[in-house]
Amino acid sequence: MINEKAISKIILSGEHSVVYGKPAIALPVFGSKSSVKIFDNSEKSGFIIKAPQLEKTFYLNEKKDIYNPIELTVINFLNNNEISLKQNIIIEIFSEIPIASGMGSGASISSALIKVLARFFNIPLSKKELYTQVFEIEKIYHGNPSGVDPTVIIYKKPLYFIKGKTPEFITKKTEPNYCLAIIDSKIRSSTIEVVNLVKQKREANTLKYDRLFDEIEMITEKIKSAFCNSDIVNFGLLMNENQIKLKEIGVSNDNLDSIITLSKKFGSLGSKISGAGLGGVLISLIEKEKIDFFRNSFIINGLNVTFTLL
Ligand code: PMV
Repeated sequence: MINEKAISKIILSGEHSVVYGKPAIALPVFGSKSSVKIFDNSEKSGFIIKAPQLEKTFYLNEKKDIYNPIELTVINFLNNNEISLKQNIIIEIFSEIPIASGMGSGASISSALIKVLARFFNIPLSKKELYTQVFEIEKIYHGNPSGVDPTVIIYKKPLYFIKGKTPEFITKKTEPNYCLAIIDSKIRSSTIEVVNLVKQKREANTLKYDRLFDEIEMITEKIKSAFCNSDIVNFGLLMNENQIKLKEIGVSNDNLDSIITLSKKFGSLGSKISGAGLGGVLISLIEKEKIDFFRNSFIINGLNVTFTLL
């Protein structure tokens, strides 16, 4: 049996505007991972992919008109490497990453799947090749992906990202006493739908949206500098500014706004949506020593919080 894992991610700044050529900053999240196992099917009943959390089992030997992105990840890998589908193999997928929540669960599962297949079939796999294969599947999940998710998930480093450009990995000067809380709104939101909604809104009011994307670009540049210099106070203020712009874009809603209000009440220095929005996770800047208080305060409000280093 072979097992491979892949991490998740959050976006510090620049979601949506990154689709239109502006920069984004993303951070790797090591606390929530996806995990894929592969082993011989001793019952010799074909090539089976089990995803119990999605309540799905895929039988790859059966011909279909439409394939799930998980099946396509495996089929593409096998076809690219001229490996027959007629095999007795079982793949099992597990994930701690909430789906449709802006944490890159799709890119993470694709990445773990391709890594495990490469090891099982002894195929050399560079990070660049892995990126190319994951990006193909991201097109199904995202429609018009910027590529920020697979890049940060594969390279596992804080990332300053512009679509189509060589990724720039960034580092901070010192380890701050602050971390990021990741609050799950429990509202599932499809990235492709939100990205399409923003596209339609931009088509209807291009001037307004391009101005907003320019403003977010300036915030992203300042967040990059605040991150690298561990300038926590400005970092928090900029997160709040970014959230105001995301609201203007139309990807926040009353539920998400009320989580931001709670975050501030519980001591956060800055909060924003992370990812496509209209649901998914929010991130809040908090002092490390307030982790327990913050977690418990949200539990009382029925919401789950995890934490990640800046
Ligand atoms: O997967 P999500 O929900 O984190 O979305 C990624 C960020 C977007 O900018 C909304 C889309 C993209 O492809 O960059």
